[in-house]
Amino acid sequence: MDWCNGFAERVLRDEPLAGRTWYGLGGAARYLFSPASVEELREVLACARRAGLPVRVLGAGANLLVRDQGFDGLVIRLDSSAFTRVVYEDERVIAGGGADLMQLARDCAYRGLAGLETLAGIPATIGGAIVMNAGGKFGQIADAVESVTLMDRNGTHREFPAEDLRFGYRSSAVGDRIVLHAALRLRRAQVDEVRSRFHDIWRFKKASQPMAAHSAGCVFRNPPGESAGRLIDQAGLKGATVGRARVSDMHGNFIVADAGAKAADVLALAEYVRAEVIAKKGVQLELEIDVW
Ligand code: EPU
Repeated sequence: MDWCNGFAERVLRDEPLAGRTWYGLGGAARYLFSPASVEELREVLACARRAGLPVRVLGAGANLLVRDQGFDGLVIRLDSSAFTRVVYEDERVIAGGGADLMQLARDCAYRGLAGLETLAGIPATIGGAIVMNAGGKFGQIADAVESVTLMDRNGTHREFPAEDLRFGYRSSAVGDRIVLHAALRLRRAQVDEVRSRFHDIWRFKKASQPMAAHSAGCVFRNPPGESAGRLIDQAGLKGATVGRARVSDMHGNFIVADAGAKAADVLALAEYVRAEVIAKKGVQLELEIDVW
C-alpha cells in the first residue's frame, strides 16, 4: 500500500462490492476506505489524486450496478459517525452525507416534521439522494433542501444554497463533489398526519414495485410526460430475460436479478429493452441507474 501510507492498515483491498449493493452483483473494489473525519477524507482524496486512482463514493448501493470486473480504483464509504450524524434544530435538520434517508424520513415523520415522508421507501444515503435528487410522484428531496456542503476532489469544501445546485428530475449540479452534509427545511405538523402519509406512500410503493427482489429500482429515467415502466409494459417486455436477469412482472422499469445472475445479464437485458422500446414505441430510454 504505497499510495497512502497514512491509512495503510485501514484500507481494504480487493473488497467485494456485491454485498454492499441492492443488486447483490458485480466484482470487487481495488481499494475501499471509510474516512473517520472530514480531514481524513481530504487526505485520502489527495493520496488518490497523486496516485492517479479514480475515486467513487458508495452510498446505500441502491441505484447502482457494479460491473462483473469490479471497480479498479478507490471506493469511499461515508459510514463513520462524522458523516452519518443528524442534528435536529426545530424545523431544520442537518444530516450527514452518509446518513440513511429512510431512517431519517421515518424519524422525521415520528417527530411530526413534514417534508421527507414523501420519500418513504426510497433506499439511499442523504448524499446519494441529493446527487440524483431522489424522489417519485409524491415529492423529491430538493423540495426540502436549504443548503448543501460539498467537498470537491481537491479537498476544498463550501456550503451552497439549494438554488446553486440546479435540482431537476433525478439530477443536480453536484457532479463529482462529495456531499458532507445538508441542511433540510421541514415543517411542523401533526405526528399522526405525517406518520400516516409516510405509511401510505410506503404501502403504495410495496404494492406497485418488486421491493423484495434484487434490483436497483427503476432502470430507466421517465421520458418527459411518460412512464418508462408503462412503455416497457406496452412493448410486451414484462418477464423478458437475459441469463438470470428478468424484467419484473410487477413493474416494467425494474430489472430484477435472480439467483446466479451476472451484472452482464442485467446490462444486456437493459440494452434489449432499450432496443425493443425504440422499435415498438419509438421512444429512446436513458439509463437512470449508475453503472460502475
Ligand atoms: N405502469 C404500467 N406498467 C408498468 C409500470 C407502470 O402500466 O409496468 C403505469 C402505472 O399503472 C401508472 C404509470 O404507469 O399509471 C406510472 O407508474 P408508477 O406510478 O409506478 O410510476 P413510474 O413513473 O413508473 C416513478 C419513478 C419511481 C417512483 C414512482 C412512484 C422514475 C423513473 N420512476 O415511476 O422511481 O417510485 O414514480 O413515485 O422516475 C426509481 O427512481 O428508482 C423509482 C422506482
